[in-house]
Amino acid sequence: MGIETSCDETAAAVVEGGQHMLSNVVASSLDLHTAYGGVVPEIAARSHVEAIIPVIKQALDLASCSWSDIDAISVTEGPGLAGSLLIGVVTAKSLAATLNKPLYAINHVEAHIYANFITLANDKSYRLPAKPPSLPLLALIVSGGHSHLVYLKDHGDYQVIGRTLDDAVGEAFDKVAKMLGLPYPGGPSIAKAAENGNQDAYILPKAHLAGKYDFSFSGLKTAVLRTAQRVAGKDFTLPSHLLPELLTDQQKADIAASFQSVALETLVDVLEKAVQDYRPTSVVIGGGVAANQSLRQLVKKRLKTGVDYTDVRLCTDNGAMIAALGYYKLQKTTPSDPYSLDIDPSLSM
Ligand code: KG4
Ligand code: ZN
Repeated sequence: MGIETSCDETAAAVVEGGQHMLSNVVASSLDLHTAYGGVVPEIAARSHVEAIIPVIKQALDLASCSWSDIDAISVTEGPGLAGSLLIGVVTAKSLAATLNKPLYAINHVEAHIYANFITLANDKSYRLPAKPPSLPLLALIVSGGHSHLVYLKDHGDYQVIGRTLDDAVGEAFDKVAKMLGLPYPGGPSIAKAAENGNQDAYILPKAHLAGKYDFSFSGLKTAVLRTAQRVAGKDFTLPSHLLPELLTDQQKADIAASFQSVALETLVDVLEKAVQDYRPTSVVIGGGVAANQSLRQLVKKRLKTGVDYTDVRLCTDNGAMIAALGYYKLQKTTPSDPYSLDIDPSLSM
């Protein structure tokens, strides 16, 4: 059983053998946050309290399992929003202690890699890779909170070889969408707007960093703001919240397409360099931004190794990736103490 509550999704899933997804239930409080243009931590935490027990129960029911079938419970301990993490961790600890099940604390970012290890699902609507990735692998983890490049030699034995120095790429999508008056979450909104835009309409800068495999997106974000102000016929003093009403839909689409193209190229440039240097036997992409179809096409074009993508529902936050990593932890590590495990909102890899 995997339990995930690090942000606004209350999620639970049952996975067998780290590979076969028997169930995957995700309840999102997203609708409650859209009016605010981003996740409100207090609202997310309150929603987790209401959803967590029904979501876990549904995950068991859909898997046709009872607690006696469950070998272990794994739960996200961090990184994430403190109030949100707390609900998942307290629930998992209570279940582990009362049901006498081993409890595994999971790093959310590391778990995004393991979404790619799921190759079988009871729900046939999932499009999954034909086989699990072989090791050593290179993982590009791109979400709202993280942009990491990880070299995984073996389960539990990895090296973070690159990371963002400022904004995560998903965060840049969210902020640019806000500037253009497109709905939250920004990733899907930008991708949709970009379909009608010209990616060569505006020249935006690509960050080249001294750290070989690091990323940066804050300069690009500022360049988008300056471009939008210029296109609106204003100077840099114009507050960004006034921009949407001054831009036409076509201008917004062109800015979205130009931004998306540079942001994705930045990721793939670094990924390509790392693949050449590390020569992994497989490459995986995880996190919400991995759902982006243009990123998938660009990676396919640029990487000779090829990448087997997972279903977009396993790219965004879910319990199945937590359970899949829990399976590998179960093979190698001792479980956490259900009485003392605590959340770690700023846990790093
Ligand atoms: O992994 P995730 O669900 O949550 C975190 O751990 O952060 O990722 C959410 C992020 C958001 O920033 C969202 O805008 C982005 O993933 N995202 C996308 C797409 N779908 C979600 N970004 C680009 N294109 C998409 N299609
Ligand atoms: Zn995530």
